[in-house]
Amino acid sequence: MLFPDYRPRRLRRTEALRRMIRETILTTNDLILPLFTVSGKNIKNPIASMPGHYQLSVDNLVKLAEKVQEIGIPAIMLFGVPEKKDPLATRAYARDGIVQKAVKALKDRLPELVIITDVCLCQYTDHGHCGFVDGHTIDNDASLDLLAKTALSHAQAGADMVAPSDMMDGRVAEIREALDENDFSHIPIMSYAAKYCSAFYGPFRQAAHSAPQFGDRRTYQMDPANALEAIREVTMDVEEGADIIMIKPALPYLDVIARIRQEIDLPMAAYNVSGEYAMIKAADKMGWLDGQKAMMESLIAIKRAGADMILTYFAIEAAEILQS
Ligand code: PBG
Repeated sequence: MLFPDYRPRRLRRTEALRRMIRETILTTNDLILPLFTVSGKNIKNPIASMPGHYQLSVDNLVKLAEKVQEIGIPAIMLFGVPEKKDPLATRAYARDGIVQKAVKALKDRLPELVIITDVCLCQYTDHGHCGFVDGHTIDNDASLDLLAKTALSHAQAGADMVAPSDMMDGRVAEIREALDENDFSHIPIMSYAAKYCSAFYGPFRQAAHSAPQFGDRRTYQMDPANALEAIREVTMDVEEGADIIMIKPALPYLDVIARIRQEIDLPMAAYNVSGEYAMIKAADKMGWLDGQKAMMESLIAIKRAGADMILTYFAIEAAEILQS
């Protein structure tokens, strides 16, 4: 197909023509909004590096979740910011922990909204790592029981889905077993399957107070240089019983999203992380680009690469545009 016989511009001439040949459609159904919850009443602490986002006490969280449901976003991903941290992350699996309380309140008020809980230890450990720490090493196998307990406690509180983000080996199998043994065989696992060790999590760590107190996460999160390893990571989680697999971050890893889409037939999520959000917000504030357009372009790119659903701090803003 060579010029002048083929002229791609013929089908770009009007908006109607462009609509007719559009390959990728983003809808509100594709969006999942991450939210942060803290204890207390009527709290709405702004997160400086994530304009428009807050740490919310449960009462305010429920109010925002009502809006989320109203606008048609099917699900939220919930992160807890506990009052106390300790070496064993006990507040991660406490019956009266912040996530457990928030899930109960959300399900009471909004039974239809899908509540996904992030399962990790880093917000709950005093050292800020995602697993059990022995000296200065993160002990993989000693972490599994704590993670399974955490996931189970979320399910007991009423969570619709659990999402382990710790990147310990073998956690999906351990969580599946704990859920199945306790009559939660109907609760799906969304595994953060290929989660890279990324600088783009910076704003999140401010929001969740979860920065590691020593070292970094390179011994458990993936090396940004690796794509084949993502196939092994994802395959492993599928074999262990994951129902939805996630790639994270999204924009710097579109090649990984596209590659995993070819390899795996499970539903796939991509996490458009805090730093991806912050970059667009900052550039928009400086007047250096059009934030709304950059947001919609980013989301369509993530979908085009192959993601079925997108975790994004832009969920409400994007849904508003999609519906206008
Ligand atoms: C917890 C967790 C992190 C994110 C989601 N779950 C931070 C991290 O791994 O340090 C990052 C989300 C974001 O940046 O938006 N392990």
